[in-house]
Amino acid sequence: MSLTVRPIVGRRAKITALGAYVPPDTITNQDLEKMVETSDQWIMERTGIKTRHKLAAGLGVSDMCTEAAKKVLAMRGIAASEIECILVGTVTPDMMFPSTACLVQHKIGATGAWGFDVSGGCSGFVFALQAGVKLIESGAHKKVLVCGADANTRMTDYTDRTTCVLFGDGGGAAVIGPSNRPGVGILGAKLGAYGEGVDLLYMSPGGSSNPITPETAANGGPTVKMKGKEVFKLAVRAMDEAARDILEQHHFTADHIALVIPHQANLRIIEAISQYLELPMERFFVNLDRYGNTSAASIPIALDEARRAGRIKPGDLTLLVAFGAGLTYASALIRW
Ligand code: ACO
Repeated sequence: MSLTVRPIVGRRAKITALGAYVPPDTITNQDLEKMVETSDQWIMERTGIKTRHKLAAGLGVSDMCTEAAKKVLAMRGIAASEIECILVGTVTPDMMFPSTACLVQHKIGATGAWGFDVSGGCSGFVFALQAGVKLIESGAHKKVLVCGADANTRMTDYTDRTTCVLFGDGGGAAVIGPSNRPGVGILGAKLGAYGEGVDLLYMSPGGSSNPITPETAANGGPTVKMKGKEVFKLAVRAMDEAARDILEQHHFTADHIALVIPHQANLRIIEAISQYLELPMERFFVNLDRYGNTSAASIPIALDEARRAGRIKPGDLTLLVAFGAGLTYASALIRW
């Protein structure tokens, strides 16, 4: 089942400000060598990851969203009270309820905002972005804060070498509002899911079907379970299709794209997409060596870094493309 999101004629949303936050503590490949039977060489060759960040004990995803959001608001001189809605893409919320969006609303002092969380795995930021885009396009709101953040180290089993080398923590935030320049903004998105892939990537125990009990807690508690090879294959297929579909719908070819911001899961996945789209790696932004897979945070962190590095210029066409637990997939086209 997939959803194609097209703007209502005449009104378009754009990203007006961007920011990101990663916690200062890190876990290097050398640190992981001391925890499980692995090596820096294996991790680099099979994933491209060198280091990842880890959120300090006592903090939650809402704190990373808050840090990123405060930067974004300060950068553009936007008062928190101007934010009308907060959307948070995450699969590692501070708690089951209330939503991370409510916690962020309180922490930044956005007293006039409502909001909710979006569970789209690593596609979570693009899912949340599209929800925000519709709120802007419909005229319901003029300033929506969209966050993507995950504290993946909280759900990682550091005795499982097949998953623990992959994940890191971080958060990103964007303010979106109406575009006042024709052709500029978020042109469209392609969102979808292969629900049949649920068993390939999930966190358990926890949740209503398999709650945390003293027994499950003693057995390691909630950790990520993943069939890496199967996820890898589906990820490449889903990202390639999501990229092609959105380009076709807007009558572009891959060559029109100045920069692709792919979900940062594995360098080999990004290289495969580059080959399938016949677009050189120079047109893909890659920072997973420094952050690992930060799930919903990966796209906003990369987008923010690409902008600050001068890799995105006015008039450029950028493609966001992601996949994640669900299995979900998402692409979006942005003209700056
Ligand atoms: N160090 C050393 N050896 C390892 C490690 C490790 N960390 N992990 C696995 N191995 C071993 C395996 O045990 C296996 O050994 P064997 O041949 O003796 O059985 C061998 O390496 C090959 O294992 P594979 O699983 O086949 O390795 P692969 O090349 O597929 O790489 C990886 C594994 C990196 C997990 C890859 O499959 C991958 O990236 N998959 C996609 C993961 C992903 O992107 N997840 C997204 C999460 S999205 C979200 O929403 C959270």
